[in-house]
Formats: sequence, C-alpha cells, structure tokens
Amino acid sequence: MSDRRKRVGSILRAVLDEAIPGGASLAYVFGSGLLYLLLSQIITGMFLVLYYVPSADHAHTTVAYITKEVASGSFIRSIHAYGSSAIIIVLFLHVTQTFLYGSYKGRRKLLWLAGCALFALMLGMSFTGYLLPWDQKAYFATTVGTNILTYVPFVGNSLKTLLRGGTEMGTLTLSRFFVFHVFLIPACVFAFVAIHVFLFRKAGPAGPVQGAPEALKQSTEPFYPKQVLYDLAFAVLIIACLGLLAHYAPVELGPKANPVDTQYVPRPEWYYVPVFQWLKYWESGLAVLGILVIPAFVALLFVALPFLDRRPERRPWKRPVSVSIYGFVFIGLGAMGAISHRNDLRDPNLAPQLAKQRADVQAFMKKPFEPELAGPSLIAATVALTNPVAGKGKKVFDQEGCAECHGEDLTGTSAAPSLIGVGDKHDSAKLESILKQPTDAMTDGGMTPVELNDEDLKSLIAFLKALK
Ligand code: HEC
Repeated sequence: MSDRRKRVGSILRAVLDEAIPGGASLAYVFGSGLLYLLLSQIITGMFLVLYYVPSADHAHTTVAYITKEVASGSFIRSIHAYGSSAIIIVLFLHVTQTFLYGSYKGRRKLLWLAGCALFALMLGMSFTGYLLPWDQKAYFATTVGTNILTYVPFVGNSLKTLLRGGTEMGTLTLSRFFVFHVFLIPACVFAFVAIHVFLFRKAGPAGPVQGAPEALKQSTEPFYPKQVLYDLAFAVLIIACLGLLAHYAPVELGPKANPVDTQYVPRPEWYYVPVFQWLKYWESGLAVLGILVIPAFVALLFVALPFLDRRPERRPWKRPVSVSIYGFVFIGLGAMGAISHRNDLRDPNLAPQLAKQRADVQAFMKKPFEPELAGPSLIAATVALTNPVAGKGKKVFDQEGCAECHGEDLTGTSAAPSLIGVGDKHDSAKLESILKQPTDAMTDGGMTPVELNDEDLKSLIAFLKALK
C-alpha cells in the first residue's frame, strides 16, 4: 500500500473505530443530523444564489422567478426554507439530549460553549435569511425584528441604523443581510463546527448517564457499523421529511414588500413566535427588563450551565433543579407560541386581516411569473449595448439637448412627448425628414431642425429606430 493510502486508511479508521462507551444509541444521532442539514443548506443555498439578486428592486422578482419558472426551483427553495426549520428542531433535540445526559459536564465545558456559539449563529442565519425574499412577510417581520434593537440602552439606535444601513429598510438592508447570510455567518459557522467537532473527538462520546465502569467497558462498541447506520437512518428520515414537505407543500412567496402598507400584520417564522409574544407583554415602561435583561439572563444561564452545575452527577432525575429550569423555559416558550396562535385566531380585528394576507399570498402564487418591465432608461442602455451605431446616436441625442424636452429616460416631459416606440411609428426616411424639417407642431413646441453631419444624423436615426 502507498503511504498516501495508508494515511487515508488510518484517518478513516480513526474516525470509524471511535469507541462509544455503552454502545451505539439512537440518542446520539442529532449531531450528525445537524451536520447533514448544514450540508443540505449549503448546497441548496448555492443553487438559490445562482439566480438571486440582493437589491430591493430585484430580490423579489428573482425569488419569484426561482419559485415559478426555474426547473425544480420551488423544490430547492422549499428544501432550503424547511431545512432552516429542521435545523431549529434538530438543534433543540440535540441540546435537550446533551442536557438530559449531562454531557456538558467535566471535560466538555468548551464543547458546550462552542455549541452555544453555533446555536446563536443558527438563529442569526434564520433571521437574516428570512428577509431575503423581500415579500410583505419578510419585510414587515424584519422591520419588527430590527426595531427590537432600539431597546438596547445608549447604542440601540446606532445599532439599528448599522444593521439596516440607514434609518429605513431598503436595498442597503438587503445587501447587509445578504452578506451576513452568505459570507460572514457561514464563515463563523464553519469555524465553530470545526472547533465543536474537534473538541468532541478530543473528549470522546460521553456515553450513557449511568452504569458501572466495568459494564460500560464491556458494552463499548466502535462507531462503525451500528452508529453509522443509525446516523444514516436519521439522515434518510430528514431527507424524506424535507422532500415530502417540499413536494406537497412548497414554500410560498407573498406579494412584493410594500413599505407604505400600514395595515400589514407581521408574523415571524414559527420558532420566533414565542419571543414575539413575550415582547408584547413588555411594550410599556419595563421594556428594557423584559426585552433585554430577562432574555440576556436566561441566555447567560444557558451558556454558563457547565460552570454553574459542576457536580459530576449526570442522571437527570438526580438533577431536579437544572432539569426543572430547563423544562420551565421550554414549556414557557411553547405556551407563548400557543397564546400567540390563539390570539391570532380569536382577535376580531386581527383574524380578517391575517386571512386577507393569506389570500394575497395565494393570489400571488397563482399569477404567472411577471418579468420586470424593462424601464425606459434601461431601454436606452440596452439599445446602446446591443447596437453600437445606435449607441453613438444616444450620445448625439444627449449632446443635442433632445433630452431637455423628451426627458432623460425618453418618456417625455411637459414640453414634448415620449419617444419610446417612435421607431415603430416612423420609418428612417420619415424620421430624417421630420428631424431636418420639424412639423409645425414640433416647431410650436420649440424643436429646431437638427444640423448634423451625415454620420451623426445616421446614428441618431438608428437610435430612434431602436426605440421600439
Ligand atoms: C424644445 C423642446 C424640444 C427639443 C429640444 C426637441 N424636441 Fe423633439 N419634439 C418636441 C415636441 C413638442 C414634439 C411633438 C410635437 C407634436 O405634438 O407632434 C417633438 C417631436 C419629436 C419627434 C416626433 C415624435 C412622434 O411621435 O412623431 C421626434 C422623432 C423628435 N421630436 C426627436 C427629437 C430629437 C432627436 C431631438 C434632439 C435633436 C429633439 N426632438 C429635440 C420638442 C422638442
């Protein structure tokens, strides 16, 4: 065997022969499930970026194009969108398993911290990704989300302006979110995944919560084949769920964001709904307490867990305090979500508006894809690009001051009519004659005969002819 093959072989063996105390278990599949989901997000995300344009003018059209026109576009977009929800669910399972098994204890403190960083990064990924389609829902939910920053004392407003790229949401907000979603956060995610996996390998699997050391040693199994099979089975389950959802319930796109719509009632992605509901209780004087202090305290408690709970005891039933706090927080979040959902259904002011919003989304999804109408200035630019003679004509047009009356974008002003379509209206000979000898109406409007050399006249006419 060559050295290279030997080396690859030994790496593979080191990975696959990893000893799992107590043997393989279905409880250990969530970490690798997350790795699989991350891979799926990267691949589907790359396909989406092939079409996506991060500007307020084009983002929505490009996502509509992906959804309605591109082969499998809707499917891939749905896998990506549902994938982000799946990450939150599997993350929750992964954290809960780690917590219940007390696997953050002892040598695993840093491992837990790297995991907390990944948790925060994932929330950042979903928050930034939510805005990108630039439909009503995306726009207004993110408006609410970024507004929360104003509660941060002293620097709140500056932070909000920094994130939005201005006081209002617009193209700058979109490009910032895009950079976060596609470059900055993924770069951090890669780094922390590497750290997390490295620390995990270093510490080794934690194994079951109890059992005599001798018995554990007896039942220790290598990672391959059983755990590999469990992990693969879980990945297949994820693929099946995402595939079925994406096929039978593709993710929708609403109408393009309309910032002046004052009626719109924003709703965040489902896993942010509990937080959203929680914030509602604090809109009055104590806002800082409810919106910043309490969440920050809970988050800190969560991050600092391995340092607060230092007993080696791992059995959950022997750790009633931490297990109850954990349960209380998550049951509380679930309850908040349920309350928010119930209010939406019952509130006589909300329900009709939410129903109308859903109907708007349905109606938009049914409409065939509408390409952006090429704007007049775009027409001039396109003409210049595709036909060099006409491009020169455009220059003559500008030099002769024609735009003063006919408009920069050729759509006309109060002084003169639009020239878009003039190429269809008159043939070249007619154009030449009216330019050399303007009609009475043109003369009345202040247009003077052109005095140009043959070449310039020709290119000017070519330009006008191209304005179909
Ligand atoms: C002082 C204002 C003014 C300027 C400058 C001017 N135009 Fe006009 N132009 C008019 C008016 C007014 C009309 C329309 C008269 C009418 O109602 O039929 C017109 C009509 C035209 C038409 C015919 C449009 C049609 O639909 O039949 C052409 C072609 C045209 N202009 C080309 C030019 C070009 C090329 C230049 C630059 C060399 C130019 N114009 C500069 C005022 C102007």
